[in-house]
Amino acid sequence: MSQDLADLPDRAAARGRVDAAYALLSEDDRAATRLIHDPVTYTREVPYAALAALRDRHGVVPVAEPELPGWPEGTGYWLVLRHADVDRVLKDPGTFSSSFGGTQMRDPRTVEDLRYVRRMMLNMDPPEHSRLRRLLAKSFTPKAIGALEAQVAGHVTGIVDRMLAAGASADGSVSGECDFAKDVSADLPLLTLADVMGVPPEDRWLMFDWANRVIGWQDPDYRVSAHFDPAGASELGRTAYALRPEPGPDGLMPDPRSRAGMPDLYAYAHALGTLRREQPGEDVMSILMAQRDDGEGGGSVSVEEFENLFWLFAVAGNETTRNGMPGGLVGLLGDPAAQRALRADPTLIPNAVEEMLRWWTPVMTFRRTATRGVELAGRTLHRGDKVVVSFAAANRDPAVFTDPDRFDIGRDNARRHLAFGAGPHVCLGAFLARSMMTRMVTELLGRTQWIESAGGPVWLQSNFQRGVKRLPIAWRA
Ligand code: HEM
Repeated sequence: MSQDLADLPDRAAARGRVDAAYALLSEDDRAATRLIHDPVTYTREVPYAALAALRDRHGVVPVAEPELPGWPEGTGYWLVLRHADVDRVLKDPGTFSSSFGGTQMRDPRTVEDLRYVRRMMLNMDPPEHSRLRRLLAKSFTPKAIGALEAQVAGHVTGIVDRMLAAGASADGSVSGECDFAKDVSADLPLLTLADVMGVPPEDRWLMFDWANRVIGWQDPDYRVSAHFDPAGASELGRTAYALRPEPGPDGLMPDPRSRAGMPDLYAYAHALGTLRREQPGEDVMSILMAQRDDGEGGGSVSVEEFENLFWLFAVAGNETTRNGMPGGLVGLLGDPAAQRALRADPTLIPNAVEEMLRWWTPVMTFRRTATRGVELAGRTLHRGDKVVVSFAAANRDPAVFTDPDRFDIGRDNARRHLAFGAGPHVCLGAFLARSMMTRMVTELLGRTQWIESAGGPVWLQSNFQRGVKRLPIAWRA
């Protein structure tokens, strides 16, 4: 059931309930929740032991939300840790709403900001959500999907060519080193999203910076990301770049979840949406702009709706895939037998990719808000309570996955992972993400003889995305 825009969660009451339950936890459990919430933890590791202990003991646990840089003190939330409960929350939008409080753990700063994010499909409930979802699903026509898959294959070949060209020859073999996260993985989702949205490829690093600002806002480097070079960009790109905000005296950018915080992205999206309506290309967004919906709420997609979809795709499809690929490689680098097995039999790669997604889990959490009283894992939740699902914990739940911390490319139920979510908002780009990852692993292993670690990785500071900022590797071809 969709939320009335005037209807807002009662934050004070929600906070009171979390505080009361939090006070009843043991000191060990409180310490575990503090570790799990703190974004700095993730620069060292994902606290899987703490997640497992709380999943076993509680299933759903209250987490306090102290003030953090750029994140004011919040109401606290109920963290859902078991696979079955995460699945249930995601499949019951009537009880666990995406629109009531938005889908991010950090509350929107103002009521206006909440109303603004509710215009985005990700933060809608049925039936509003169903209309846009239906229109988009119809735009990924079999022909468009076929074209995208061919384009992904071409991009992967080009990126791996570039990686191998930087190598040096010795004794008839060629070898080299690179930063897999930045030099290899970053470009593939950018090129692919540019194909999906009809963005000129020379503007694609704008999307890199936008995704970093929105998703990596907890990280000191990513929140001010500025990798795009306007020289050689399209007119659209240069105009948008001129509107890029500057960090304030505190080093922070304006809140990227408000329209005012992303003026460069919105200017770009507006100009692109208008252009594609007048001069459609072959891309999915052009197909979308030409659609008419005969169902409830019908009509075609407005330029304003296009702007919000552009925001969502540029952000949702980018950093997620960019982190999924090196994350999967981390699994392979730690398991030489798996690398050998995949080289010997590439038909094992699709299942290995599912295991990579399960084991790494690029998106670790998402948020819902309860619309009514409900029992979950023995807890009574109330209307207005913030509910955060942990994909990281669910994907390592021993009730579903045997020996869950083990990276096992032959796991027969790896595909039961929830890395792409579930229910009405299940990832719309899952097929593309799978295609990018499978192609990349196939090409990398097919064109090298061995790949190994060449130094310490650097992880993103974020309790939302499991991000890889640097992953040095050495390869031999
Ligand atoms: C490994 C890569 C990816 C991961 C782990 C991932 C994960 C997710 C998750 C967990 C959700 C559910 C959000 C919720 O329940 O509120 C989601 C939704 C979404 N994803 Fe992905 N995603 C990935 C790649 C992509 C790509 C490549 C695209 C675009 C081409 C994309 C587009 C979207 C969109 C549009 C939604 C919102 C769907 C809706 O609200 O109905 N994602 N994704």
